[in-house]
Amino acid sequence: MPPVIKTNAAGRRLSDRLARKSARIGIIGLGYVGLPLATEFAKAGFRVTGFEIDAKRTARLNAGVSYIQDVPTREVRDLVRAGRLRATLDFTELARMDVVDICVPTPLRKTKDPDVSFIVAAVEQIALRLKRGQLVVLESTTYPGTTDELVRPMLEKRGFEVGKDFFLAFSPERVDPGNPMYHTRNIPKVVGGVTPACTLAASQLYGAVMERVVPVSSTQVAEMVKLLENTFRSVNIGLVNELAMMCDKMGIDVWEVIDAAATKPFGFMPFYPGPGLGGHCIPIDPFYLSWKARQSGFEARFIELAGVVNAGMPEHVAKIVTEALNAAKKPMKGSRVLILGVAYKADIDDVRESPSLDLIEILERDGARVEFADPYVPSIRHRGHIKKSRPLSAATLRAADCVVIATAHKTFDYKLIARHARTIVDSRNAMKGRRTRGVYKI
Ligand SMILES: NC(=O)c1ccc[n+]([C@@H]2O[C@H](COP(=O)([O-])OP(=O)(O)OC[C@H]3O[C@@H](n4cnc5c(N)ncnc54)[C@H](O)[C@@H]3O)[C@@H](O)[C@H]2O)c1
Repeated sequence: MPPVIKTNAAGRRLSDRLARKSARIGIIGLGYVGLPLATEFAKAGFRVTGFEIDAKRTARLNAGVSYIQDVPTREVRDLVRAGRLRATLDFTELARMDVVDICVPTPLRKTKDPDVSFIVAAVEQIALRLKRGQLVVLESTTYPGTTDELVRPMLEKRGFEVGKDFFLAFSPERVDPGNPMYHTRNIPKVVGGVTPACTLAASQLYGAVMERVVPVSSTQVAEMVKLLENTFRSVNIGLVNELAMMCDKMGIDVWEVIDAAATKPFGFMPFYPGPGLGGHCIPIDPFYLSWKARQSGFEARFIELAGVVNAGMPEHVAKIVTEALNAAKKPMKGSRVLILGVAYKADIDDVRESPSLDLIEILERDGARVEFADPYVPSIRHRGHIKKSRPLSAATLRAADCVVIATAHKTFDYKLIARHARTIVDSRNAMKGRRTRGVYKI
């Protein structure tokens, strides 16, 4: 029997409104995380308001247009027309919300320290209008202690008591953009409240739209769960990247090693090398944890080491490009290099922290003339200029002295690449079974 959690009249009122789907839900920050979440609540029958600082995003959403690849425009249009989803720049409307979910960015400063200024800005807006019975949930990835030590005091300033007058929880977002199997609804949702009543309220909220809710004992545990997950990925990718560089020196095919090791039915999980880490999560989140650990006098060595190894991968790929060009009796200086894929991972359009951008920088630094082809990214801003994606054609491939497969989008025509590229540096093993001559793997 689970323990019976006592809540008060405010909690019961919120619970009732959540059960009847009459609770009004506000989502602060409608990006890769906030928009899918907002549409999920709206599809379940709630009335959802998105609070944004980006006027373009607000206008597009209210016109029924999606700007996030995983959210179909058809879905947004239907929900906007049905009056269940809208966006606003007017934060005074927060006062009308029963629930406020915070999905703002959590980047790093240049010093690799956490930048929680977006969270602070969002919470300031909520604190100005906090009302009795409101549930506030932080979803942005952050260091353990943020909800309890930073957000809670800001909200309690008005004299309200957490767990009684309002409810506060942390629930990490685990969305995996571009993943056709797992999306907001069927990824289990970890929830940790400041008090048991807070956990109860947040669990009921997510239980209304998600297939499985996993309550934990505190906000700190919930915050740490997300950081463990992403640190696990960063460290394992770092390990396999180091192994790839080691195998390169020893003349062993790391890809064959991993594939064979992956036949072990227990105790092994395959990770694959690549040109480096990208996106708003894996390259960033572990440093939130190491920063917090340092505050407690603890040095998180695995995190730092994985960070160094992973950050060195674009240089490693550039070294292979030099070797590949050398084999074709060409200097890097003046050679034409075509990068395939600038999104940070396959089948998505996100270039944040993408290692392809570092690779372009390094190759140009060394004198190469670099172009790119990416069906998801029409252009990038590079050194203050716009670089446009090239169409992937036989002529484009033949014109390049070296083609680098940086992101293995499924939509690339690999047969065409195998047939027409003169020299290929394959950082994703995408040429496996297609071509070996003139192919240099990492
Ligand atoms: N992208 C992912 O795959 C992913 C996965 C899991 C967790 N996360 C975490 O979720 C959080 C959000 O990431 P994202 O990828 O959705 O970011 P994003 O940049 O795609 O979206 C954030 C949105 O918040 C808006 N915003 C910024 N400050 C605001 C403010 N004060 N008020 C209102 N709106 C504001 C921005 O205009 C933007 O539209 C981050 O903490 C991230 O680490 C991201």
